[in-house]
Amino acid sequence: MIIALDGPSAAGKGTLARRLAAHYGLAHLDTGSLYRAVGGRVLREGGDPGDAAHAVAAAAALTEEDRLAGDLRSEAVGQAASKVAAIPQVRAKLLEFQRDFARNPPGGAAGAILDGRDIGTVICPEADVKLFLTASLEARAERRFRELQAAGAAPIKRAVLEEMTLRDRRDSERQTAPLMPAHDAFVLDTSALDADQVFAAAVEHVSERMRSRRA
Ligand code: CDP
Repeated sequence: MIIALDGPSAAGKGTLARRLAAHYGLAHLDTGSLYRAVGGRVLREGGDPGDAAHAVAAAAALTEEDRLAGDLRSEAVGQAASKVAAIPQVRAKLLEFQRDFARNPPGGAAGAILDGRDIGTVICPEADVKLFLTASLEARAERRFRELQAAGAAPIKRAVLEEMTLRDRRDSERQTAPLMPAHDAFVLDTSALDADQVFAAAVEHVSERMRSRRA
């Protein structure tokens, strides 16, 4: 079973992906971490994440260390990630790794769940289940604000909202693999739902899809 899970920043993809992976025995790949690793590496090398040649070289040379960098979840790295993610050759470099993960999930897992922006549209258009999580900008900014606070930072609410708006716009307006729901995705607005409710709605949809696929 392959589950594609897409959506904008802080819509709840990470939490849902981890819960679905545990529930169905799937391997999970957070594809945003790949773009973050590339963006973070370019920043560490003192480069400009918008510089295609540098970003492509960073994607080609990516190491385990880049993927585990301590600042991977920082806002600076998030912005750098969305800049390198707009470069088609960077996306091309990361494509095979993602498809291979979906087709041959590690650890003998029964399948895979990949979360990102273009999983249902580009990486795994043949996925058994496609989910698209979304939420209002305010709800997502509030979640990111709390997440940053919980991590010990002192975020400023307006800055969080502005940075999120900027990144969403860059992700949605780019030419290659823009953020959008696949035509056959189940779109779930999580603005007024807690993690348990999102999980329950997703499981219900997955069961329905699997039943109709078997029929
Ligand atoms: O955690 P959050 O949802 O804020 O972001 P993320 O999933 O870690 O993704 C960071 C950035 O990587 C996004 O803003 C996108 O620009 C890019 N990305 C992408 O282009 N395609 C993907 N499949 C996943 C992430």
